[in-house]
Parts: sequence; structure tokens; C-alpha cells
Amino acid sequence: MEILHTPAALRAWRRSDPGSAGFVPTMGYLHEGHLTLARRSLAENARTAVSIFVNPTQFGPNEDFTRYPRDEERDLRLLREAGVHAVYFPTPATMYPEGYQTYVTVDGVSRGLEGDARPGHFRGVATVVLKLFNACEPTRAYFGRKDAQQLRVLRRMTIDLDLPIEIVPCDIVREADGLAMSSRNVYLTPEQRAAAPVIYRALRAARDRWSAGERDASALRELVAARIQAEPLAAIDYISLADDDTLEEIEGRAVRPALLSLVVKFGATRLLDNIELD
Ligand code: PAF
Repeated sequence: MEILHTPAALRAWRRSDPGSAGFVPTMGYLHEGHLTLARRSLAENARTAVSIFVNPTQFGPNEDFTRYPRDEERDLRLLREAGVHAVYFPTPATMYPEGYQTYVTVDGVSRGLEGDARPGHFRGVATVVLKLFNACEPTRAYFGRKDAQQLRVLRRMTIDLDLPIEIVPCDIVREADGLAMSSRNVYLTPEQRAAAPVIYRALRAARDRWSAGERDASALRELVAARIQAEPLAAIDYISLADDDTLEEIEGRAVRPALLSLVVKFGATRLLDNIELD
């Protein structure tokens, strides 16, 4: 497995082989969700590169950039064991050298939900992913559906900027009790961790109601809210039922596939999850 530190080194790696290249951008502290993306990429491409970069521009001033969990040695071991061909490990100074002033803004789909809760977040995500794409020139790039809005922002950016890259969405990987895997789950106390599966139980209850024919957006949001409010350690940040494609909030009845997404806070930790209703 090659370990690369600069855009030039990653580009040289990519251009050393004309076959397909899969790319999995991550912020490290890898879990089974990331490894599922890597394995899918390995199965679908001649070679696979994974990037590990905790991107400062997608964190707000009061967010967890400095305490975001990091374990480079373990990450490298897991990627080597998975059979990944290259790991890209840039430094902040390589990605954003002095004088850096260029940012990518995706309108529309960046608004609402996480875009409102975390101003500037998607500008940071789109910027870093475009830079990573430029260095890696992948055939396909793999992203989890847990970050549903991120996936739509990056899909839009890829279309709008004519990038010849296939964005491959991958299903959410969950713990046995239903909690969506996330590097941030490590912040939870044992009590919060034991309570957190309420999120997926609430989402499933709404999906069951949807399958039984319920299409009233308020009723579906209220059902989820009531389930979450029954858990004393959980505090709702937002619950959204939005058009699956545009992410515009649905008022009245849903007539097209919808994305039910939410953020629930346990202490200071924000847990993001969603379920697609179609
Ligand atoms: O999903 C993530 O881990 C990050 O937002 C990404 C796509 C690696 C960009 O920093």
C-alpha cells in the first residue's frame, strides 16, 4: 500500500495505471462504514485510493475540529488489511497553503438541514472534495448515505462542473442495535450510547407508517418526535421530511419519494441519521 502526502504524488500514482480507480474520501478514525465503501470500491475498480484528512474548512468555529478523533496507525492497518492500494494523507498546509482563497459553493441543495445548522459546512466539503477529485482523478467515488445532504451536494457539484466521475452512494452501515456507524459515536457516554438506538427505532416506526399509507408530512415528523422525546437523554435538533431529490421540506402530503432525516443531540454530540421513503 502506497502512502502519499501531496497532490502531485497522488496524481502520479493515478497516472501510473490507466485502469479504473475507485476513491473513498474520509476524515479517518475508520469504522465498518468506511471499510464497506473501500471494499465496494475494491470490487468495482482496478485500484482503490482512500484519503484521510480532517478538513478544517468544513468545521465551524465552535465545532469539534481539534478534538475530532484521530488514530492514523490503526487506520493504516485497517486499510492495508482491506487491500487498499494507496492512502492519501495530506496536511492542512498542503491542502490550504498560505494565500489560499478559492472555495466551491453549491447553491440550493446546500441550504436547509445541515446547511442551516452548520453554516459554511458544505462549502468546506465541496471545496475539499473537488481538490481531492482533481488530485486523484478517480473513475468512481464512494460516499455513505448517512450524510444524505452531503451526497446530494457532491452529486450536484459533479454534474454542474462536468466532472467525469461516477458518484456511488452506499447504504448506511449500522451497529447491531441500529445506531448508524459514525466516528463521532466515540463521544457518547455509556448511558448515551445505550439510549442512542432510539433514533433508528423512531425512523423505522415512521417507515412502517409510510408503508401503511401515511403521507401527511406533519404526522410523520410528529411520530418521530414523540418517539425521540420519550428518551430523556435525547434532544431533537431537527426532524425533516424533505423531497428526496431537492431536499425541499414537504408541507402537506408527500407525493414523491421523501427523505426523513434528523439530528438528535446526546449531550454535546450531534447524531445524524435518515431513512429513505419511496
Ligand atoms: O464525509 C466525510 O467524512 C467528509 O465530509 C469528506 C467527504 C471526507 C470531506 O471531508
